[in-house]
Amino acid sequence: MSALPISGRTKAERLAAAVSAGAPRIVRTALDRLSAADRTVAAKIVAARFVERCAASAAAGDWTILTSFVDAACDRYAGIFTADELFAAALEAVSSVLRTSVDPATGLAFERARFDVEAAIARPRTFARAAAAHEAVDEVDVVLDDLLTQLDQSDALTAEHSRAVASWCGRLAKRLGSTKDEVVHLTRAGLIHDIGKVTTPPEILGAPRGLDDEEMAIMRRHAEAGAYIVHEVALIRSLTPAVRSHHERFDGTGYPDRLRFEAIPWVARVVAVADSFNAMIGRRPYRPPLAPSVALERLVEGRGEQFDPDIVDAMIDVVTLRA
Ligand SMILES: [Fe+2]
Repeated sequence: MSALPISGRTKAERLAAAVSAGAPRIVRTALDRLSAADRTVAAKIVAARFVERCAASAAAGDWTILTSFVDAACDRYAGIFTADELFAAALEAVSSVLRTSVDPATGLAFERARFDVEAAIARPRTFARAAAAHEAVDEVDVVLDDLLTQLDQSDALTAEHSRAVASWCGRLAKRLGSTKDEVVHLTRAGLIHDIGKVTTPPEILGAPRGLDDEEMAIMRRHAEAGAYIVHEVALIRSLTPAVRSHHERFDGTGYPDRLRFEAIPWVARVVAVADSFNAMIGRRPYRPPLAPSVALERLVEGRGEQFDPDIVDAMIDVVTLRA
């Protein structure tokens, strides 16, 4: 926040500061206006994002930041919760906070923009798009999306890697004969497995060299830190074992709990293979990518030691048969 006295700030800065300062109240007021059934974790997250975009629009004097967010969210969350009602309530809440916190001339910029936001909320959504969005996303995905956005902001490379691991996990799960629900669960586990890295210092995450012992110990804390983050959110708590145990090794020499063999949750054993393979074929700050064939050889070398042998075999099929 700028250290300028309020009188020295521009109108845009005053408006943005008032929206940011009122964020908790705006979110609470907006949710209070929804029916009890609609006051979900996802609705709370999306309301908070609305307020962030609102403050960013005010600061930039560019309200398309907010209207394009509203437009995309109404499409994306159609069928999951009533995004249009939520945004209408949030708009009203912003307006009432501004009435009490800024002078009328400063608040006017928001009232002018409000028409555009209302138009975005009211835009008709086609049934086909809404149905597709409903199939692809549910409330859990909204929560995961939000966590991934946080990871993206602190470490874009890890977020990109996590999306790829999610895809490998989904393909591995299918190859291993999993049910549809297991495929979804594993895909989500892959997506979120490294969320604990939001707590790892960037100079360690981005070190263009191998880490020393002390740095490695700090890096390793991400498994437990991630488990804590995921466990705190009831909707995604079932992903905790995958997050905590994805660095366990099949022979019992991994971390954080030195579990071995079947004591390592199955989901974590799958994530471990997908994670290692994708890390090897991906760019890293300290080394160039390996060819997929070389990465598969490394998995085979670790078969039964670092990795569950059945899952290594399935990974070879996924990569070589494009399963
Ligand atoms: Fe990890």
